[in-house]
Amino acid sequence: MLADNRSVLPDRLTLHRLALGGDTNAFAEDVARGLTAQPKVMPPKYFYDELGSRLFEAICFLPEYYLTRAESEILRQHADAIVAAIAAPTRLVELGSGSAEKTRFLIEALLRRQSTLHYLPVDISDASLERSSLELLHLYSNLRITAYAADYFTALHALREAKSSERTIALFLGSNLGNFKTDEALNFLRAVRQVLKVEDGLLLGVDLKKPAALLVPAYDDALGVTAAFNRNLLVRINRELRADFQLEKFLHRAVYNEALGRIEAHLVSVETQRVRINALDLEIPFAAGESIHTENSYKFDLPQLAALASATGFALQTSWFDTEQRYSFNLFTAA
Ligand SMILES: C[S@@+](CC[C@H](N)C(=O)[O-])C[C@H]1O[C@@H](n2cnc3c(N)ncnc32)[C@H](O)[C@@H]1O
Repeated sequence: MLADNRSVLPDRLTLHRLALGGDTNAFAEDVARGLTAQPKVMPPKYFYDELGSRLFEAICFLPEYYLTRAESEILRQHADAIVAAIAAPTRLVELGSGSAEKTRFLIEALLRRQSTLHYLPVDISDASLERSSLELLHLYSNLRITAYAADYFTALHALREAKSSERTIALFLGSNLGNFKTDEALNFLRAVRQVLKVEDGLLLGVDLKKPAALLVPAYDDALGVTAAFNRNLLVRINRELRADFQLEKFLHRAVYNEALGRIEAHLVSVETQRVRINALDLEIPFAAGESIHTENSYKFDLPQLAALASATGFALQTSWFDTEQRYSFNLFTAA
């Protein structure tokens, strides 16, 4: 079906493949830096090769992963009100669009009040960006897409040049903001602010602080899909950099660091071992129990969000919640 779409619909799709954070050189440098650091660390953007993107989509179906269902519930109920907060006509920018499944609620709300829509998704995973763009064009005949296969900051730089006379709504869904430490979140929000005009909006889907007993299962599910998502990073290093990680010797661990308000994902070495990364001519020693810290997922409260907004040229205008108050959807208005 996608092959057909490709031949029928390319005139409504422009795909910019910019210097990817996922290119081999950047990946090699980050692996060398991260695995020789103390403690060992890897940026979470490298989860999203083609299999990693599919595994994340599978995570969204897990009973433990309440985040996607909570966000969908909010969008299903409030998409018209959310869109009404920004004047028409509006274009839609999305950072880290992934499958763009939930984006459909907002696309449909926008197309109820304007006859055409320009959608500009950004994702480091070019395979999922192309797939989701073709699916959306198939569903919506009055949609035009300019897609950026790029790291957020590279794409935001390009988007600064792609100014529009329309209003802009920018989206950052799926608790993506939670991957950033505070200084990174501030830099990211400032970079988004630079592509917006006063009164444009940024919609942030953000997970709320809650007890560890509720949070941890969402990142350590019974089926082991999140563990596979985490360990796929080692598969990627093995494939792209000719390394010899033995997967059974690294376990997935998710812990809630209450002091810092974040879930941490780790890959923990089950024994003392050495891993060879041939493309880097590196040998990495691991002590038994030593971890590679692969992801943070920060949890927020509304005062924190309001402070982030006002520090970066926005005002927190409205927040919407799911019925169980687990998750928030926040409109930051460009001030
Ligand atoms: C947690 S998933 C969320 C996907 C989707 N927005 C959702 O809510 O289901 C994160 C998405 O952001 C993309 N991503 C992660 N880091 C990125 C980066 N540094 N630059 C661009 N895209 C990134 C991933 O490829 C993935 O599609």
